[in-house]
Amino acid sequence: MKLASRINALQPEGAYHVMALAQALERQGRDIVHLEIGQPDFSTFPNIIEAGKEAIDAGFTKYNPPEGYADLRESIARFSERRSIIATPSQVVVAPGAKPVLLFPMLALLEAGDEVLYPDPGFPSYRAAIELTGATPIPVPLVESNSFSFDLDALEKRISSKTKLLILNSPANPTGGVISRADLEVIAKLAQEQDFLVMSDEIYSRLVYDNAKAESIYAIDGMSERTIIVDGFSKSYAMTGWRLGYAIMPEPLARKVSLLLTHAIGCTAGFTQKAGIVAIEQCDEHVSKIVTEYQLRRNAFVQGLNQIDGIHCRSPEGAFYAFPNITELDTPSPILADRLLNEAGIACLSGTDFGPNGEGYLRFSYATSMDQLQVAIERIGNFISGLKR
Ligand SMILES: Cc1ncc(COP(=O)(O)O)c(C=O)c1O
Repeated sequence: MKLASRINALQPEGAYHVMALAQALERQGRDIVHLEIGQPDFSTFPNIIEAGKEAIDAGFTKYNPPEGYADLRESIARFSERRSIIATPSQVVVAPGAKPVLLFPMLALLEAGDEVLYPDPGFPSYRAAIELTGATPIPVPLVESNSFSFDLDALEKRISSKTKLLILNSPANPTGGVISRADLEVIAKLAQEQDFLVMSDEIYSRLVYDNAKAESIYAIDGMSERTIIVDGFSKSYAMTGWRLGYAIMPEPLARKVSLLLTHAIGCTAGFTQKAGIVAIEQCDEHVSKIVTEYQLRRNAFVQGLNQIDGIHCRSPEGAFYAFPNITELDTPSPILADRLLNEAGIACLSGTDFGPNGEGYLRFSYATSMDQLQVAIERIGNFISGLKR
């Protein structure tokens, strides 16, 4: 069978790959601490579960509008105002997860020959989606010295007359970094002067710690007409398997993306959408509790990592990932991640699972219990101290 060329470059996602390897070791009786997958360990909040069940009983089990129910889209538009994102419900497109609304706006916008700037290290589906459209992916380094925001000079140098889109992710997977308002303003100015669009993945915007604030580039003057916000329920409301996400974009684009959803997906499950309304409107307290808990875990885990000789980890401002610098250990990241799994029973990802610029880093998800995190620190510490340096 001859496969289409557009599929050739697609790679598996590191997190799923390592999870499968870890599970195979578990089947052999090994004890593994899972820090590889970006999934909250909390259950979906009980009022969301109840709302989902009630919606099934009430018959929200049928086809519904491809762009999502009007009441959910209204609720999303109202909720977004909290972060100064002013949009009408007709700009909101609902989908089964954030992933489809990364891909479909790109399919609607990009042609072969267009260039798309994206963060390296960054969420692997960005590059995959760009490649599927036939456009050219242009990685832009995120740098630890700028709190894991872009190297802005490198960003500017990579802009060309072919640049159509820039992808932002703040708070970021895999670094946990939050892009500052000052950097967003520089990026917004570049977007307007050089006439490119911005796709801003804000799926972790509710998961920020201390006084960090994840602002949206959409709220900067002149940006609402050239920004696509991608967001979803998986992370903030522990709803990964419900499959619910959305994007906010200029209305003409929203109409085209709805057409793509019509033909590719049909619609998002109705009961999931009804549960989503409860998530948005009635879960602030639950979200604050998990944010407090993640912050405690982050503090303990990052402090533990920093006590290990040869590991340096800046404290991430958001999401639930630690991205320690391991360059002093003189071991390539993929080899270290592999050895940690096989020799120390720690499932984590190599920074290079997120692009070549992730070399010198590992990614740990700390969305797991404090007990497991403590076991992890002990095992990582013992393993590293046994490494010949
Ligand atoms: C940065 C980022 N964007 C999007 C997604 C996809 O989320 P969803 O489950 O809503 O498809 C993830 C999931 O890991 C992510 O880390």
